[in-house]
Amino acid sequence: MRLDSGVLALLGATALPGAAAWGSLGHITVAYIASNFVKPETTAYFQGLLRNDTEHYLAGVATWADSIRYTKWGRFSRNFHFIDAKDTPPTACGVDFARDCKEDGCVVSSLQNYTSQLLPTSVGSEGDLPAWRRAQAAKFVIHFVGDVHQPLHAENVAQGGNGIHVLWDGAELNLHHVWDSSIAEKMLGAGRRVKPYPTAFAWAANLTAQIRDGKYAGPRDSWTKGMDLDDVVATAMVWAGESNAYICSHVLPEGPEAIVSQELAGEYYEKAAPVIELQVAKAGYRLAAWLDLIVDRISGANGLSDEL
Ligand SMILES: *[C@@H]1O[C@H](CO)[C@@H](O)[C@H](O)[C@H]1NC(C)=O
Ligand SMILES: *[C@@H]1O[C@H](CO)[C@@H](O)[C@H](O)[C@H]1NC(C)=O
Ligand SMILES: *[C@@H]1O[C@H](CO)[C@@H](O)[C@H](O)[C@H]1NC(C)=O
Repeated sequence: MRLDSGVLALLGATALPGAAAWGSLGHITVAYIASNFVKPETTAYFQGLLRNDTEHYLAGVATWADSIRYTKWGRFSRNFHFIDAKDTPPTACGVDFARDCKEDGCVVSSLQNYTSQLLPTSVGSEGDLPAWRRAQAAKFVIHFVGDVHQPLHAENVAQGGNGIHVLWDGAELNLHHVWDSSIAEKMLGAGRRVKPYPTAFAWAANLTAQIRDGKYAGPRDSWTKGMDLDDVVATAMVWAGESNAYICSHVLPEGPEAIVSQELAGEYYEKAAPVIELQVAKAGYRLAAWLDLIVDRISGANGLSDEL
């Protein structure tokens, strides 16, 4: 019996473990969107660095940072995925880098750290990090641009909502999980056993079309406005601030106490779904622009800009 490649992809995906998280579905979708928007030079550069010349070169590494986070080797990075905004939702939201970025790092400082590791240290590139270090830095950047767009990755309350118990179609879940996974899964009509890669690929195609000439074609230019490779912290703080603002408007509109034990798969979901969709689209489009800026800088330092 012959199976086409789509069917094979689905069969292969059934071997992947358990429920998809932002850790998979969201991150992989962000990466696929970015691969749809980067310049050809950027594709070539990162396909080379990540040693993968398929269309999955970004998507395939998008969840790596989660996979090493709780290992002995990866422990140093466990706090790099979020910034704990110590605000008071729903009355006041806001992120403050000095107040909220922990001493051992946060998602904003980590974007700064790993972006700088990708850049040439000087003209002529002598002293650049070895390729394996730059590949690792790329994997962190791809992941953290996704994380900073999840509202509960920019909030301190109950460890980003991990400690808040809620109901989802009658089942007990924590609020962080709802925003990581449940909302997107319901939106895509996929159960908790959704197959991340094919589902993300299709979702990315849809969002890409909507960014090109659908409902996001208007706002998309404002998404990348002011992005500055020489001020990564300011750039990423804009992203964190937008995510955090949704804590007051959509995540905890009545505050952290009022949401405990509430059923969220109904009216709450209807308001949350467009936020998830927008944040994933924005993260993917911004990741593409960010990777383009990095490759522009590298080409410039190598004196290649005239040749290209
Ligand atoms: C590229 O990445 C995809 C997704 O992770 C993987 O399935 C594929 O085997 C990789 N290809 C190469 C040549 O490494
Ligand atoms: C920067 O990245 C390196 C390499 O992963 C890591 O060891 C270091 O802890 C990071 N520094 C900060 C301040 O996050
Ligand atoms: C994207 O998905 C939405 C919701 O399923 C659908 O209404 C819309 O037509 C799709 N758009 C594109 C361009 O595929």
